[in-house]
Amino acid sequence: MSKDDVAPTAASEYLNPHYWDKRFSAEEHYEWFKDYSHFRNLIMDHLNPHDSVLELGCGNSQLSEELYRDGVVDITCIDLSAVAVEKMRARLLENGCKDIKVLQADMLELPFGNDSFDVVIEKGTMDVLFVDSGDPWNPKPETVRKVMTMLEGVDRVLKPHGTFISITFGQPHFRRPFFEAPQFTWSMEWKTFGDGFHYFVYTLKKGKRPLDFKENHEKLEKPSLCLLQDELEGEDYQFRTNVDEL
Ligand SMILES: C[S@@+](CC[C@H](N)C(=O)[O-])C[C@H]1O[C@@H](n2cnc3c(N)ncnc32)[C@H](O)[C@@H]1O
Repeated sequence: MSKDDVAPTAASEYLNPHYWDKRFSAEEHYEWFKDYSHFRNLIMDHLNPHDSVLELGCGNSQLSEELYRDGVVDITCIDLSAVAVEKMRARLLENGCKDIKVLQADMLELPFGNDSFDVVIEKGTMDVLFVDSGDPWNPKPETVRKVMTMLEGVDRVLKPHGTFISITFGQPHFRRPFFEAPQFTWSMEWKTFGDGFHYFVYTLKKGKRPLDFKENHEKLEKPSLCLLQDELEGEDYQFRTNVDEL
């Protein structure tokens, strides 16, 4: 199955659950961005074998299996696509990972109690919410609403000192306003991986926002004109190469 057979005609299709069902019916495995070997060293410091982990939008990725083989056994995966869930369950069973739970669920309405997980992880799933965001510096209100709903859900299901790991092509200046919104208490760190084009691994620790955060945050709010232009060009490049063509 080639990438062209499953690629959408427009990026906005990534928001359509039918697109994902159709794609997963035809595709057995596709790893968004890069596989585990490329970012394993960036996330393992934030995971313990006894952690309970929630993966958002697992698709047909091998991330949960790789974490399991690395000793993290309490894993719950969710995806909105019933096809992805059914196929993931069958594959995990076949590959000896029957303890991994897989549920059909919407990340905008997480069906879990407060303080349920030590770690929430997503790879390329939050990015789906941005595909029709318009100007990345000033996303549409509907995009902002959905992203904040998702993040509020993540914050709610995380235990008091839990960690949210977001693996994305979204650059820090576009993700920071969301991750550093006043209703969260997250500290934010990020690292990159990939050759040529870089992907980002954000690590957000609940309850760990630094005390001098407000002061530093104000300093960051106004990028210089030169930076603004360079980064706008960068984001345009990302949208073309990472959303439309994936
Ligand atoms: C870009 S793919 C990433 C798949 C996988 N995480 C990976 O790294 O290969 C986005 C995934 O998010 C799922 N998805 C989209 N919207 C969702 C939502 N509201 N709730 C849960 N999953 C969603 C899609 O079905 C798809 O599996």
